[in-house]
Amino acid sequence: MQFDPIIDDLAEHGWSLRHSFLSDDLTLGLAAECRKREAQGALAPAGIGRGDALTIREGIRGDQIQWLEPGQSPLCDCYLELMDGLRLRMNQTLFLGLEEFECHFALYPPGAFYKTHLDRFRDDDSRCVTAVVYLNPDWQPADGGELRMHFADGSQRDIPPLAGDLLVFLSGEFPHEVLVTQTDRLSLTGWFRRRPADVLAL
Ligand code: OGA
Ligand code: MN
Repeated sequence: MQFDPIIDDLAEHGWSLRHSFLSDDLTLGLAAECRKREAQGALAPAGIGRGDALTIREGIRGDQIQWLEPGQSPLCDCYLELMDGLRLRMNQTLFLGLEEFECHFALYPPGAFYKTHLDRFRDDDSRCVTAVVYLNPDWQPADGGELRMHFADGSQRDIPPLAGDLLVFLSGEFPHEVLVTQTDRLSLTGWFRRRPADVLAL
């Protein structure tokens, strides 16, 4: 089963990096979908926090995002279905009780970064597991934009945003940051939630 290495890594280390998790077709199709949304002007500066506390602060993160909704495109639906399979498998094996997956396209233009943070809000701990898939087929080391994970023992690991790679980690456990990118950096970033978003006062 394709999810089992992820489950094993999560149980043992709390995070997992799978190379070439998505097929080339799906990866390139999702990258094209992200570019299409950019061309339509549908991507907007990402905020920090939630609801009333949501603020745009370019000193913290400089990406442009758009949330995925089911029914927007067959390829996006394919990705959402894949992540739903992972959600069910995590629930069966790790008993996480994940009820929902939310995700957005993110485009970091040259010079953009995201300072060190946790993916859990102070006022909302429903984000439980983060899953990021990268959509950059021509990425080179000089392009930057690596995801730097910080571990409890003080060590760190830089993960290049390579097309088709999937990174999964426990949202509340690992401070992480996106290093400055030199070229457009595309990804689909998502969170498995314990409770659906609509029970929160947004
Ligand atoms: C985020 C985030 C990481 C990445 O959006 O919260 O940390 O590699 N993204 O895009
Ligand atoms: Mn994050």
